[in-house]
Amino acid sequence: MTTAAPRRYLMCRPTHFAVTYRINPWMDPTAPYDNALAVSQWETLRRTFLGLGHTVELIEPLPGLPDMVFAANGATVVDGKVLAVQFRDAERADEAPAYKAWFENAGFPVFDSKHTNEGEGDILLAGDVLLAGTGFRTAHAAHAQTQEVFGRPVISLQLVDPAYYHLDTALCVLDERNIAYLPSAFSPGSQEVLRRLFPDAVLATPADAEVLGLNAVSDGRTVVLPVQATELTAALQAAGYETVGVDVSELRKAGGGPKCCTLEVRS
Ligand code: ARG
Repeated sequence: MTTAAPRRYLMCRPTHFAVTYRINPWMDPTAPYDNALAVSQWETLRRTFLGLGHTVELIEPLPGLPDMVFAANGATVVDGKVLAVQFRDAERADEAPAYKAWFENAGFPVFDSKHTNEGEGDILLAGDVLLAGTGFRTAHAAHAQTQEVFGRPVISLQLVDPAYYHLDTALCVLDERNIAYLPSAFSPGSQEVLRRLFPDAVLATPADAEVLGLNAVSDGRTVVLPVQATELTAALQAAGYETVGVDVSELRKAGGGPKCCTLEVRS
């Protein structure tokens, strides 16, 4: 386990959060949701990061983009380079230029995406390599571009369960050496890849995944995860991690958890 270095995160307040369309199985536009509760749950998440010593920067939420709170989908940022995103669904398309502009204004070199690429939702840095999901959102072709842009090996992983449509709903990077994941969310070949690369991984249960427990943010020492993921919390503690449970149940109605709300800015 590594020690926790302060992280820099980009987040987007869920001012305009709503569930008005359905682009993943968690979303039910006919079900009630509580915007004020979503904002207060998100605020608790932001304060949790600040309490752990991390920096949180904010991007202005735009009206008409109810999923913009899910900042992880706004870019992939590694070694000070930014790969912009291209959403699969028209409902989220206008988020891409907003996140791109934020990074340009902050002085980062930004590379345009040539294929569907939903950022850190599907592309996760694990030590020296990038783990990249495909099957539902990010195109397989985007993995090759990701490898070119960052000059780091990209390991392609095939997602097979529509409930776990982004890699970060099925896999969490815990530190430079280890991950937690739900095996059944991956194809047999990808499960074998994960077993080879991470023989000591923390395996999540279906019950953990159903509360989006794997959609967690780790700084290498402390894992911030949905409080409902009780089995995963115990497994992480047994593996030597500290845990902080947060309740983002309103955001889960859109298919998102703590990690979806958090884009790591790595300089
Ligand atoms: N409603 C959003 C979508 O389906 C949720 C995105 C969750 N983000 C994530 N990184 N998994 O696109």
